[in-house]
Amino acid sequence: MVLTNHRRGPRAAAMLGCVLAAALLAAGCAKSAESPAPAGGTGGGGQQEVSGSGASGPLCTAAQYGAPALDLTKATVGFSQSESTSNPFRATETQSITDEAKKLGIKLIQRNANANVPQQNTDIQDMIAQGAQVLIVAPENSDGLAPAFAAAKAKHIPVLTIDRTVNGTACSDFIGFIGSDFLGQAKIAADDLGTALNGQGNVAVLQGTSGNNVATERTNGFNQQLAAKYPNIKIVASQTANFDQATGQKVMEQILQSNPDITGVYAQNDTMALGAIQAIKAAGKTPGKDIKIVAIDGTQQCVQNVASGVLVADVETNPRFGPLAFQSLQKFYGGTGVPTTVIISDHHFTSANAAEALKNGDVY
Ligand code: AHR
Repeated sequence: MVLTNHRRGPRAAAMLGCVLAAALLAAGCAKSAESPAPAGGTGGGGQQEVSGSGASGPLCTAAQYGAPALDLTKATVGFSQSESTSNPFRATETQSITDEAKKLGIKLIQRNANANVPQQNTDIQDMIAQGAQVLIVAPENSDGLAPAFAAAKAKHIPVLTIDRTVNGTACSDFIGFIGSDFLGQAKIAADDLGTALNGQGNVAVLQGTSGNNVATERTNGFNQQLAAKYPNIKIVASQTANFDQATGQKVMEQILQSNPDITGVYAQNDTMALGAIQAIKAAGKTPGKDIKIVAIDGTQQCVQNVASGVLVADVETNPRFGPLAFQSLQKFYGGTGVPTTVIISDHHFTSANAAEALKNGDVY
């Protein structure tokens, strides 16, 4: 079971997390619900705390996993980043892991696979060879990393996955997953676009890289919500642009050529939205006026675009995993265990709050 937080009511989300989370987290959730910060502690700088998150699944300990006891502060931790840090999501995620390891005095080694699945397999195996005793992996793909995960398992090296899932068995092939509610994000984006289009029009979807749960759930959630609530909105094109700005621009150019009557765009991440904006302008149309755009991530540039009316809305994907990832590992080794699924809370940026969010540090 995956527990999700509802973004429009942070306190309610925190309390929902408390009701459904493992008993271990109950006290922490109550504390978080009293806090002014959104569940997940993403306010004012965006630090996450494990106690404020929606958590589900059985607790996983090092003993259950078959991992040897370890003093994390003396360990070597390997971090595998999936994609280029030219994407602010990736840059912020890498920085958050790096900063937290430094703060805790933990030796961190890291690699970036630049969206190449075989490279990520090599990266992980290289870090194992280099002495990594624990791994934090941001997977590029949900299936393709089986060789690297098998190599880690053979050496009893635990792997914590963040921001995307991998297929396999939690607390056996990997410890668990920490990340966003991707289906929920997509439903919010569908509502934003449906409302902006007054329930009718032709829409294009720029999908993320295929083969991972994020793109799949962001596609399914959007399609489900449109079908359920906006029957007069038609998806006339839905193509992958690999979560990449240049590809987003190119794919959007092609879509506009074949579908000049498009009135809405759903970009499954901010970098693709930026590419779409360029393509729309190049076609002589005005984004925000002729074509309404919604996106997912919550990066500085796109939230700025929400504030100025170029984008309708932007649903955050919080990449600040450092504190939560290392707290989880400490609980894993400390014997209390970690839930195998932790769903974090994200902001929802609209014209009503984008300018304020830019001021108070909620964007990255
Ligand atoms: O897995 C998270 C997604 O991957 C982010 O939305 C995107 O920017 C990244 O490439």
